[in-house]
Amino acid sequence: MGTPLDDAGLDTLFRNARTYNGYTDEPVSEAELRAIWDLMKMGPTSANQLPARLVWCVSDAAKAKLAAACSAQNAPKVLKAPVSVVIGMDIDFHEHLPELFPHADAKSWFDGNEALRRESAMRNSSLQGAYFIMAARALGLDTGPMSGFDATMVDAAFFADTPNVTTNFIATLGHGDPATIFARSPRPAFETFNTIA
Ligand SMILES: Cc1cc2nc3c(=O)[nH]c(=O)nc-3n(C[C@H](O)[C@H](O)[C@H](O)COP(=O)(O)O)c2cc1C
Repeated sequence: MGTPLDDAGLDTLFRNARTYNGYTDEPVSEAELRAIWDLMKMGPTSANQLPARLVWCVSDAAKAKLAAACSAQNAPKVLKAPVSVVIGMDIDFHEHLPELFPHADAKSWFDGNEALRRESAMRNSSLQGAYFIMAARALGLDTGPMSGFDATMVDAAFFADTPNVTTNFIATLGHGDPATIFARSPRPAFETFNTIA
């Protein structure tokens, strides 16, 4: 059981948090990257699959490799951000289940069924991508998730040696610069997209 967050916590995670296109010069340390992982890894995935495989691009060379695979709009953001992150997903995540989910023979549920593994890797790595965003916010950082990239190129650049890993989405990370965003887009009221059955 947890304690409800106060208004300041809710503002940090949701109400004041934004998706940033650019960041201040304040650096992001490796300790902060590790702190993000140590929070995001606690978010739930089916049978504790943890299929996400993250590449944290901190060097200019790594950011340039990623930017080369991005749309013209997104490439400069990747180059300029303190950190740019590839959120990949491992379709062979089931090989780790004897360790990660010791309560049952969960590996056997996925052995020989690549279609099920793909579906599950996409679902759970997307959840982990969301946990990444929320963990970064919880630690006072900001992100800019992006789908404007060529996945085949990102896979070739970062996962050539591990063809079982493919790219889900990418994100920038840093201390958001409010000058790089426009006004908040509408968020509809409950009645618009919800039903209570
Ligand atoms: C998975 C995902 C992919 C996105 N792809 C792009 C993108 O390629 N380029 C871009 O400028 N913004 C991209 N966005 C940013 C969204 O437009 C933004 O998060 C949304 O409008 C909400 O903005 P807000 O968090 O500031 O309210 C993406 C966001 C997500 C979550």
